[in-house]
Amino acid sequence: GNEPAPFNEYEFPLDSNWELPRSHLVLGATLGEGAFGRVVMAEVNNAIVAVKMVKEGHTDDDIASLVREMEVMKIIGRHINIINLLGCCSQNGPLYVIVEYAPHGNLKDFLYKNRPFGRDQDRDCSQPPPSPPAHVITEKDLIKFAHQIARGMDYLASRRCIHRDLAARNVLVSDDYVLKIADFGLARDIQSTEYYRKNTNGRLPIKWMAPESLQEKFYDSKSDVWSYGILLWEIMTYGQQPYPTIMSAEELYTYLMSGQRMEKPAKCSMNIYILMRQCWHFNADDRPPFTEIVEYMDKLLQTKE
Ligand code: ADE
Repeated sequence: GNEPAPFNEYEFPLDSNWELPRSHLVLGATLGEGAFGRVVMAEVNNAIVAVKMVKEGHTDDDIASLVREMEVMKIIGRHINIINLLGCCSQNGPLYVIVEYAPHGNLKDFLYKNRPFGRDQDRDCSQPPPSPPAHVITEKDLIKFAHQIARGMDYLASRRCIHRDLAARNVLVSDDYVLKIADFGLARDIQSTEYYRKNTNGRLPIKWMAPESLQEKFYDSKSDVWSYGILLWEIMTYGQQPYPTIMSAEELYTYLMSGQRMEKPAKCSMNIYILMRQCWHFNADDRPPFTEIVEYMDKLLQTKE
């Protein structure tokens, strides 16, 4: 009959544009875990994909935010520099949201693992990596990374999508150095105190937040541009931790209020540092929109050919 199976906690409307047969999916290793969600590797029709799901002990809100994330991805549409939705399994079992798999993991760890070593004047690079870098990343590669993220963000902004947590940990590295922005569809409860707590890696996400987000929990594309500036700094330092000595949101706000900003990283050209500083204008209207950042990077890359 039409009785739902007893293990079915929820029923979702069938969207035949996206529904994939559950039997075609072979789940594999866990790629990442958050407080309420899990991402696992899977194989479907000989392709490797990533599958988002909720963990045991989830609440109704967790399911709702996964559904919302999927619906946001459907509406936003495809771009090479974002993690694209591939399909879902929503019927007769747990909700699986199937997205592109990025084989090289997140950008922060990728940069840190492949950072250059041996330039003594550069304290950041004086510690040898535990294993030799598998990829040699040049300054031009770093600028290409920043360029791709700007294109992805310009697309998201054009689709009226505000990321709210743009950081190197939320950018994934695919084949051929193609970068993809992840987690842009996450429902973030900006009223909650989550952001003032350390994330699972013990990092403070406040360090990516614009002053107006810290102060008033206000987010728009201009606060994403601020975060993009911090992400540029992460790129140019091969994955260092921003503001290493700052410990709290209050301390950070006071620091920024007084006009202080992070210094130019050793391996960063003045052109890129100027862009970072523009992203960190206290007044949001003085920050360049992503469209202008893309144009600026276009020009920078032309002169580097
Ligand atoms: N970790 C979280 N999401 C991922 C994805 N789509 N690809 C690879 N690793 C991931």
